[in-house]
Amino acid sequence: MHGLIAHVLSAAAIASSSVLAANCKISPFDASWPSVDEWAALNNSIGGSLIRSTPAASSCYPDNPFGSSFNCTAVKSHWSYAANHSAWPESIDYSIWNNNSCVPPGVSGYTRGKGCSIGGMPQYIVDASSEDQIAKAMAWASDRNLRIVIKSTGHDLSGRSTGAYSLSIWTHNFKHTQYQQGWNIPGSNDTADVLICGGGNNWGTVYTAAHKVGKTVVGGEDATVGIGGLVLNGGHGLLSSSHGLASDSVYQVKVVTPDGRIIVANDVQNQDLFWAVRGAGGGQFGVVTEFVLQTHPVPKNVVTGGLTFYPRSKSTISKDASWFAFAEVASSLPDLMDQGITGTLMAVTGETAVSYLGLSEALPGASVMLSFLVYNSTVQNMNGTLQELAANITRASHNQVNLTLTSPEAQSYWSYTKPDFSASQSAGATSLLSSRLLGRNELCNLPRSDLVSYLQQISAAQVPESGTLLVWGLQGGKGPASTTDIRRGSVLPAWRTAYAHVMSYGGTVNATADPSEALAVGAKWYETVMEPVWRVWAPHTGSYMNEGNPFSSTWKHDFYGKNYRRLQGVKQKYDPSESIFVWSGIGSDHWQYDLQSGLLCRVHPQ
Ligand SMILES: Cc1cc2nc3c(=O)[nH]c(=O)nc-3n(C[C@H](O)[C@H](O)[C@H](O)COP(=O)(O)OP(=O)(O)OC[C@H]3O[C@@H](n4cnc5c(N)ncnc54)[C@H](O)[C@@H]3O)c2cc1C
Ligand SMILES: *[C@@H]1O[C@H](CO)[C@@H](O)[C@H](O)[C@H]1NC(C)=O
Ligand SMILES: *[C@@H]1O[C@H](CO)[C@@H](O)[C@H](O)[C@H]1NC(C)=O
Ligand SMILES: *[C@@H]1O[C@H](CO)[C@@H](O)[C@H](O)[C@H]1NC(C)=O
Ligand SMILES: *[C@@H]1O[C@H](CO)[C@@H](O)[C@H](O)[C@H]1NC(C)=O
Ligand SMILES: *[C@@H]1O[C@H](CO)[C@@H](O)[C@H](O)[C@H]1NC(C)=O
Ligand SMILES: *[C@@H]1O[C@H](CO)[C@@H](O)[C@H](O)[C@H]1NC(C)=O
Ligand SMILES: *[C@@H]1O[C@H](CO)[C@@H](O)[C@H](O)[C@H]1NC(C)=O
Ligand SMILES: *[C@@H]1O[C@H](CO)[C@@H](O)[C@H](O)[C@H]1NC(C)=O
Ligand SMILES: *[C@@H]1O[C@H](CO)[C@@H](O)[C@H](O)[C@H]1NC(C)=O
Ligand SMILES: *[C@@H]1O[C@H](CO)[C@@H](O)[C@H](O)[C@H]1NC(C)=O
Repeated sequence: MHGLIAHVLSAAAIASSSVLAANCKISPFDASWPSVDEWAALNNSIGGSLIRSTPAASSCYPDNPFGSSFNCTAVKSHWSYAANHSAWPESIDYSIWNNNSCVPPGVSGYTRGKGCSIGGMPQYIVDASSEDQIAKAMAWASDRNLRIVIKSTGHDLSGRSTGAYSLSIWTHNFKHTQYQQGWNIPGSNDTADVLICGGGNNWGTVYTAAHKVGKTVVGGEDATVGIGGLVLNGGHGLLSSSHGLASDSVYQVKVVTPDGRIIVANDVQNQDLFWAVRGAGGGQFGVVTEFVLQTHPVPKNVVTGGLTFYPRSKSTISKDASWFAFAEVASSLPDLMDQGITGTLMAVTGETAVSYLGLSEALPGASVMLSFLVYNSTVQNMNGTLQELAANITRASHNQVNLTLTSPEAQSYWSYTKPDFSASQSAGATSLLSSRLLGRNELCNLPRSDLVSYLQQISAAQVPESGTLLVWGLQGGKGPASTTDIRRGSVLPAWRTAYAHVMSYGGTVNATADPSEALAVGAKWYETVMEPVWRVWAPHTGSYMNEGNPFSSTWKHDFYGKNYRRLQGVKQKYDPSESIFVWSGIGSDHWQYDLQSGLLCRVHPQ
């Protein structure tokens, strides 16, 4: 049964697996790997919910080696849809993280001759529908030194919901939502109107449930993204600058730990776990099967508007002016956000600017697109803000950028946020980026020439002609800053003074190279070119873990800050067997995960 996997592994990898065996999570090459009968016994004890990995694209290969029930043509035509990867038990959105083990011919990440293997995917999946099943399966795996991974939707940008030779716990079926008014907040005499949500929901299902009862919640901007990974690692969205991060709205969780305990955690019980999962929680301490989320009032309306500018010409004067214009906007963001504005800024250069803006040719300098929104306001107010900002940009650039306004419009909150599940076609082969949280110190309280220089440096591109993309989420500000201490959890403290979460996509990952080598090359570029800029510009902030660089050499500081040490204690307490590993997770430096061999081994053998 495991011969199919064996043939893709090199002799060297197998040899090293036996040398290191005692220090590694087990693999099918170990004598201690559970027998077919033992897997069957596990399956029996969990109500028949065990699935053998069956890569969806298996039907694209001769003799459909794993027996996929999906037509290859259909799999290939849906490969970019997040909703499909979410529904395929073994799949994730960015296939490089499972070593491109079984992708349909012709899609990005495919290489001729590689074939289809289980490879970097989990070996078995628990299609769980009860906490009890999860508890039994995780205790069983932990006892056997088997790696455990947790998948909700598979959206993760750092491949943290998959892993070779693992047992995957799939939260997909935990889809209940229940509105409860006057829910007693543990440890207080206050009540709240809450939405109790199963850990397998996505934002589309949660927003819809909240809408039905005339409420809303703080969550992400894409209907197919799961509440699990997003909330547990902080979570920003359309309402975070108003009401705090998604994890700031959590009153209680139900967690199944790797040693098989089912735990309710809130302000008065298991507070250490409750603190840890609200920020550092994704795939680190256990499976969260249920969240109690504070609901918020629905905004009376949404007013949108924006502007776009690019260098007037290819001249050096226009080029330089465009950077000053970008800096003018960047330094204005904190004040604008304090007035209630949220939204996105995108900055593009080179060929990327040509494709985003429909320019006729690449222009030196920066092109910037601003999409603002504000709640409970008017078209006139938004128009006034945009007119004023446009005048400031024109002045800062000495009229050397071409600028157009996007007309302000008002609409209902629901018409703006109504989920569209089929819209998300973001899945692909690779995902690697670097990000930073920026506040007034980094945007306002520095000489303008320094700000210009930093903006230029974070716009570096590994392939210079291709250019870069920067995405600035305007999701910090008042909401995260005004969250009370007890609601803050273990979220990176830098969020409390941040305004913008800035993602830089200048690196290029070769989708057809060996995945571990391609990732290493990409990681090296970010480490030597991009991370040093953030470290000088914003040494005291950090990065949002869900949209950050898992290979940054300063990941402990970047993602956890001063909370790292305390989180280590919580990890040791709830996952003593270190059954769950994620890239840049707490204690992940004890381990080396090699996508080549698929082995997860201790770096410093104990
Ligand atoms: C198109 C797109 C749009 C995005 N938009 C936003 C956005 O608006 N705001 C934002 O903050 N982020 C956004 N993100 C980033 C997003 O937060 C991460 O991709 C996140 O990992 C998604 O969580 P998931 O549960 O859907 O994914 P998964 O890949 O299933 O899980 C992600 C991580 O969380 C763990 N996990 C998931 N569920 C549970 C659970 N129930 N219990 C324990 N661990 C669990 C997994 O083990 C893994 O480590 C976006 C990502 C994409 C690709
Ligand atoms: C687990 O049991 C169910 C029900 O008997 C069965 O359909 C399924 O194929 C089994 N899973 C595995 C991996 O054998
Ligand atoms: C797969 O679907 C395509 C188009 O939808 C169809 O033409 C083809 O015959 C199907 N293949 C199989 C094996 O069913
Ligand atoms: C992809 O998802 C859509 C709905 O989201 C579904 O109708 C379709 O059958 C899925 N295709 C495959 C091949 O899984
Ligand atoms: C990962 O892919 C490479 C080739 O790209 C292959 O050599 C290696 O065996 C694969 N590893 C696993 C665990 O599938
Ligand atoms: C809740 O109310 C009771 C009775 O009024 C009071 O004794 C107690 O201190 C209150 N608890 C909190 C946490 O405020
Ligand atoms: C919008 O106004 C409503 C009604 O006054 C209020 O309850 C809500 O909190 C406001 N929303 C935001 C995001 O400011
Ligand atoms: C900017 O606008 C001017 C005046 O309309 C026009 O001549 C010029 O071609 C534009 N620049 C670019 C790069 O399109
Ligand atoms: C926005 O303001 C400008 C300048 O005052 C004005 O000409 C324009 O008509 C306004 N647009 C809207 C939609 O109010
Ligand atoms: C425009 O610039 C002035 C002067 O620096 C500043 O006071 C104002 O807030 C700016 N307006 C906007 C919308 O950024
Ligand atoms: C990507 O990797 C493949 C396989 O190693 C190689 O043939 C190709 O030249 C690489 N592409 C780039 C752009 O480096």
